[in-house]
Amino acid sequence: MKFKTMMLAWCLLIGELLAITSVLASDLPDLGEVVQTPAKLQINAAEALRRDAVCTKCHDESEIKPILSIYATKHGVRGDLRTPSCQSCHGESEAHVKNAEGKSTRPAPDVLFGARSSSYSSFSRSPTAAQNESCMQCHNNAGGKRNYWAGSQHERQGMPCAACHEVHAKSDKVLVKATQPQVCFTCHKDQRNQSNQISHHPIAEGKVVCSDCHNPHGSAGPKLLKKNTVNETCFLCHADKRGPFLWEHQPVSEDCTNCHTPHGSNITPLLKSRPPFLCEECHDGPHNSPKAAAGNAAGAQGGLKAAPSTSYTGRACLNCHSMVHGSNSPAGAFLHR
Ligand code: HEC
Ligand code: HEC
Ligand code: HEC
Ligand code: HEC
Ligand code: HEC
Ligand code: HEC
Ligand code: HEC
Ligand code: HEC
Ligand code: HEC
Ligand code: HEC
Repeated sequence: MKFKTMMLAWCLLIGELLAITSVLASDLPDLGEVVQTPAKLQINAAEALRRDAVCTKCHDESEIKPILSIYATKHGVRGDLRTPSCQSCHGESEAHVKNAEGKSTRPAPDVLFGARSSSYSSFSRSPTAAQNESCMQCHNNAGGKRNYWAGSQHERQGMPCAACHEVHAKSDKVLVKATQPQVCFTCHKDQRNQSNQISHHPIAEGKVVCSDCHNPHGSAGPKLLKKNTVNETCFLCHADKRGPFLWEHQPVSEDCTNCHTPHGSNITPLLKSRPPFLCEECHDGPHNSPKAAAGNAAGAQGGLKAAPSTSYTGRACLNCHSMVHGSNSPAGAFLHR
């Protein structure tokens, strides 16, 4: 009896350990962001509105830019202690509020956002680092999407958060599938061009967006990809290409972009080159009568290749080698089936 209980205990323990390791090994689920507003910035609803009134007594509906629409966004949920007030983002801005010297143009607020000066403003924007520091007070969470912001391609270019985000708008374009590409295309014109080619991911159709494959805030992988490699990124949606296959095709397991281009191509489906040329970039005349090339003992035909077989070469290789991504048929060594 005792032995039985002990065995049971061991089984449970081992089971538990296995469960724990499998959780650790699997990818962390995408929980979105957990905003961690520092305690000193947390304010209750009444206090928040009182603090906002410091600014909103002057900045109201009459602004050229609809400032108050921030109350229709997640930054305006007054019941939430973590929600910023005007001053959590723009700084206390005492000099600006008081304008003690009564200047005709008041001193600028502490933090002014944006990539460049706006047409209607006489103030120049704050340095990028100061702008981003303000946002990162709350958005610099561990385990979140901005862990790789520092040193990322966009950060190194000196881009402020406000180059992509618009916080005083009811709807932030970059967060909406249908409008996100427009924001990215303002700078990435090559990708706009490619995504309008005949074969493309349904980006213009609003079904796939840049941020399905990229994390614009930085990533551990190349080219700001969400995952560590190109293939892992593609497998997010094309799981059927992951395998495992009995007969793998080496370039497929290596990198999908050996043959495909992600943003668009005039050769369907998203191919870099048209078969047979695509295949022949790596396979040098596979059906060029190898026996003749080997020659006979006397060397009479040595090195002399027979004419390439017309039934193979220059034809759609895929008519026969249809399982180009890998085969699970025991007889599929040549990716035929
Ligand atoms: C007494 C009125 C007054 C108060 C209070 C006030 N502002 Fe202003 N603010 C102005 C005026 C007027 C301007 C336009 C700049 C100018 O020409 O002087 C301005 C400009 C700005 C701008 C820049 C807009 C631009 O044109 O680039 C920002 C941002 C701003 N204020 C934020 C704030 C914040 C945040 C607060 C609260 C901490 C605040 N303001 C409080 C009057 C005020
Ligand atoms: C979450 C941070 C944040 C909060 C909270 C916030 N702002 Fe802004 N504010 C910005 C950013 C970023 C911009 C740049 C334009 C944009 O993104 O919409 C901006 C732009 C402005 C502008 C326009 C001038 C310009 O630089 O283009 C004014 C005026 C302004 N804010 C005032 C306020 C007032 C008043 C409040 C409180 C009701 C407030 N802001 C709350 C981040 C914030
Ligand atoms: C005082 C803390 C605080 C500051 C400062 C702050 N945010 Fe936020 N932010 C929040 C909170 C809280 C949310 C809502 C999160 C939620 O609901 O889970 C949020 C949400 C967001 C979202 C998601 C909005 C959505 O609709 O899903 C974006 C984008 C964002 N913030 C960008 C910024 C930018 C850019 C700045 C700097 C200009 C900034 N934040 C400054 C607290 C802050
Ligand atoms: C190159 C454009 C770009 C820049 C620069 C950028 N963002 Fe974003 N941001 C996006 C896109 C696209 C999304 C939506 C896709 C996603 O969630 O990854 C997003 C989503 C967010 C969200 C809400 C969703 C979430 O949970 O992550 C927050 C908060 C945010 N960004 C904060 C910031 C802050 C803070 C900065 C500056 C340090 C910043 N962003 C800079 C493009 C950008
Ligand atoms: C304000 C201009 C601007 C905007 C808006 C912008 N980017 Fe960028 N992006 C850049 C610059 C500049 C670089 C660095 C270019 C380089 O290194 O060749 C870059 C780099 C990148 C890279 C990495 C390229 C590499 O070679 O590693 C990717 C991926 C990318 N951006 C995607 C996006 C996405 C997705 C969006 C929209 C959510 C976006 N960008 C919005 C300017 C922008
Ligand atoms: C289906 C996944 C996917 C989507 C959607 C996607 N990309 Fe990419 N992107 C990639 C891959 C994979 C690479 C690396 C490709 C390579 O090395 O050829 C890349 C590379 C890039 C680069 C760097 C290009 C270079 O030549 O170095 C930029 C910039 C970029 N993408 C921007 C965007 C923008 C903007 C969008 C939205 C319109 C977008 N991407 C949508 C997968 C994607
Ligand atoms: C967010 C999901 C998603 C990711 C990630 C993704 N794809 Fe796609 N892919 C799609 C969708 C949706 C289609 C369109 C399917 C359709 O039209 O039936 C598609 C279609 C394709 C096609 C066929 C295009 C055509 O013209 O028929 C190819 C090839 C392709 N993807 C390759 C890739 C590669 C390579 C990657 C990695 C760089 C990748 N995909 C990543 C969603 C994704
Ligand atoms: C050796 C070149 C090559 C590589 C590498 C490759 N593909 Fe393909 N892929 C093709 C060809 C050729 C077609 C067209 C097949 C056809 O017409 O039957 C295709 C078609 C597709 C399609 C659309 C049709 C279908 O089968 O669903 C998707 C999606 C796709 N590939 C995804 C991927 C992904 C994901 C990877 C990386 C894991 C990858 N491919 C790697 C050559 C390649
Ligand atoms: C980027 C280079 C590359 C491209 C492009 C490529 N292949 Fe391959 N292919 C390889 C490599 C490497 C192997 C493994 C060779 C080996 O094991 O000897 C292979 C293996 C094969 C095999 C199995 C042969 C064997 O000896 O095991 C076939 C069949 C094949 N490829 C057909 C194709 C076809 C059809 C295409 C075009 C759609 C294509 N390949 C495109 C690199 C490529
Ligand atoms: C009519 C059907 C057919 C066509 C079309 C065809 N193949 Fe093959 N291929 C075969 C068969 C059958 C084999 C098995 C080995 C053999 O019998 O030579 C093979 C073997 C191969 C091999 C592995 C053996 C070797 O010689 O290295 C490669 C690589 C290959 N084919 C590539 C291609 C490429 C590239 C094309 C297009 C230019 C192509 N094949 C077109 C039927 C075909």
